[in-house]
Amino acid sequence: MSNLAYEHAPMPASPTEEEVAALNAIRPIPRISIQAFCETEGVAGSIERAGDDRRMAKAHLKVHMGGVETALEFYGSAPTPNLLILESRREPHELLESLRHLAEVCDPTTKVVIIGHYNDVWLYRELIRAGVSEYVVAPVSMADIVAAISAIFVDPEAAPIGKSIAFIGAKGGVGSSTIAHNVSWSMSTLFESEVVIADLDLPFGTANINFDQDPAQGIAEAVFSPERIDEVYLDRLLATCADRLSLLAAPSALDRVYDFDSEAFNQIIDVAQRTAPLLILDVPHVWNGWTRSTLMQVDEVVITATPELANLRNTKNLVDTLKKLRPNDQPPRLIVNQVGMPKRPEIKTSDFVEPLGVEALAVIPFEPQLFGNAANNGRMLGEMDAQHVVVQALNEISHVLTGRRETKSRKKPGLGGLIEKLNKLKQKK
Ligand SMILES: Nc1ncnc2c1ncn2[C@@H]1O[C@H](COP(=O)(O)OP(=O)(O)O)[C@@H](O)[C@H]1O
Ligand SMILES: [Mg+2]
Repeated sequence: MSNLAYEHAPMPASPTEEEVAALNAIRPIPRISIQAFCETEGVAGSIERAGDDRRMAKAHLKVHMGGVETALEFYGSAPTPNLLILESRREPHELLESLRHLAEVCDPTTKVVIIGHYNDVWLYRELIRAGVSEYVVAPVSMADIVAAISAIFVDPEAAPIGKSIAFIGAKGGVGSSTIAHNVSWSMSTLFESEVVIADLDLPFGTANINFDQDPAQGIAEAVFSPERIDEVYLDRLLATCADRLSLLAAPSALDRVYDFDSEAFNQIIDVAQRTAPLLILDVPHVWNGWTRSTLMQVDEVVITATPELANLRNTKNLVDTLKKLRPNDQPPRLIVNQVGMPKRPEIKTSDFVEPLGVEALAVIPFEPQLFGNAANNGRMLGEMDAQHVVVQALNEISHVLTGRRETKSRKKPGLGGLIEKLNKLKQKK
């Protein structure tokens, strides 16, 4: 084959001057998960070395040997990362054919970079048309890898990688914060995805208690010095709660007052959304300029309510107002919480959702023992009892909010396309 790049030797260990210069222009790679499946030592070595670069310090990288088939097998039962790098030595038609099943195991948000051994424009076009983010021809250097990742996740023109989701209660005490914290935790553990949670309840926030954290600084630093906010500064303010979960904690102190401009959090949200794939905002139950503009800015809003009349009235007002503020977005999601509290007269869920025009994303029972134990011990519900129905409901919420339509364990190979076809038929009716 004339266009076969060549069987190459590993790249030299120390970077060339050009590589250093190319790397210098690159901003830090955000907290993304990256997995690579390589067929040659040369490519695997370059990717490993890219992982050691300081610009990749926040990213989680794993390099496996084995090509596309190994990856397909692997992801039959594991969540796909934010970025999948696949090396293949196959010739163009065979390579395309081998990638056919990739869409069935890849989560919709996963980006794919292919490293091939054929310098072929047709192949490049076909791959890009199939949704692959980049095709790179081997041999690749460490700087090539960092540059390819940067082009997808860092460039100013690149879409913000993070999805931002705001949680707000229809009243105080309905469990909005608890659900926000636990959903963040479940997203970070279930999908091995990096999650940043920001506690916007500065005077009274409980994320620090729920995650058993006592950070010196946090969101107050950021909101009171907006001119300093960039990725590096924000990074210093984050407290690590779990392997892939960081918290921008509230001071939860009353030594000052918290009267913010309506734009106060916009910059923080924007920067945070560029540093992690998921940003969860725990918004307190207040209605100020800044709460409204925060709810306008985020990608998705989740309202938590308990099944009582005042909650219904407030939820209706929130749903209607958000519809006006976000005319081109999906309506907010609704979680009905603390259902079945003994001796409390309640509105049936079906009656509760009927006037709202939205369906309940989840209905969570009142479980004072589970919630109380978790809260008092600074543990997550999933750490207390992973099998509990409430934990299962939170996992389901995490799946829906991240756009993973089904749980991986239930996924049957080859069914994806069929389900899609059936859905299309349904829509046509
Ligand atoms: N489904 C539930 N069953 C029992 N207790 C709950 C439930 N949901 C939340 N709680 C408890 O309710 C209290 C208020 O929750 P919180 O998350 O602070 O509410 P909010 O943020 O809406 O003000 C907490 O003590 C929490 O543990
Ligand atoms: Mg709260």
